[in-house]
Amino acid sequence: MIEQLDDRVAEMEVSVFEATSQPSARQRVLPDEEWLLHQPLIEEIQRLKVERKAVVLAHNYQTPEIFHGVADVTGDSLALARLAAQSEAEVILMCGVHFMAETAKILSPERTVLIPDLSAGCSLAESITAADVRLLRQRYPDAPVVTYVNTSAEVKAESDICCTSSNAVEVVKSLDAQRVLFLPDRYLGHWVAGQTSKELILWQGACEVHERFSAAQVRGLREGATSLQVLAHPECPPDVLAEADYVGSTSAMINHLKRSRPQRVVLITECSMSDNVALELPEIEFVRPCNLCPHMKRITLEKIRDALVHMHHEVQVDPELGKRARRAVERMLAIG
Ligand code: 13P
Ligand code: SF4
Repeated sequence: MIEQLDDRVAEMEVSVFEATSQPSARQRVLPDEEWLLHQPLIEEIQRLKVERKAVVLAHNYQTPEIFHGVADVTGDSLALARLAAQSEAEVILMCGVHFMAETAKILSPERTVLIPDLSAGCSLAESITAADVRLLRQRYPDAPVVTYVNTSAEVKAESDICCTSSNAVEVVKSLDAQRVLFLPDRYLGHWVAGQTSKELILWQGACEVHERFSAAQVRGLREGATSLQVLAHPECPPDVLAEADYVGSTSAMINHLKRSRPQRVVLITECSMSDNVALELPEIEFVRPCNLCPHMKRITLEKIRDALVHMHHEVQVDPELGKRARRAVERMLAIG
């Protein structure tokens, strides 16, 4: 199972690490003493994964002991959605936030999808409801609705098509209409609008992690470190993106680093990204401002172990609602 998934992920150019990375490589992200503390839980989880026929998917923002210690596959939200659709494992354990687990359930309704902590939410997903989307449709009846995957199943079910930060520009360009409702991240929407000739109607949602970065902070980082490459996630405010050398999703940033191999870099995104990428790219020096996503950080090794022992917290999506939401997600997956 793990091998099959790894092959698919390799094709998709996302980062994949063996469930147990080589100790010498692991030391680059956490000191030996910490790995020793984590080792008993890591071993227990590895054993439970086999027993439960479970695959562990982890987002790029998970902590190193999860990302390098127990994940079978890792990636951005687009890659995780694809993998969830393709997975043949009986159990999918999502180390990420609730909308990611829900997307996995929408795409694989026949599988058991677990999340180690049900309260791992997202400020974007919380910013909009299905009723909001219905009202917007009444107001703009000719505008197709594109929703970021960082939304609930109910909101996806009201949408024409989903997108992630990896494919948002492509998704918007693929639509026939000139005017598009783009929900709910206003900063991602602003960035997408700058790359298409379409008129985007935006919602006022924002990511609580990325909106905390400021342009002054980025300029300060540049002053403090010579020849610093700045890579930023498109959930950041426009003045922050204007300071960046490259803007892209978490996986796009990783691919950019692999191609350009800068000497010194700062990733304007969630804190754990640098730790996770550093293992694969040891020659790059990472300057690390640290904005943590409190929701992603609810997932811990202890909770992963408990989820597999008790087979809790199962994510459920009403089958009828799931079918409607699935149309929007599959339409996105067909595009790229
Ligand atoms: P990516 O799609 O770049 O992984 O980012 C999604 C995100 O913000 C998860 O919080
Ligand atoms: Fe949501 Fe932002 Fe956390 Fe991603 S980083 S899960 S967008 S709050």
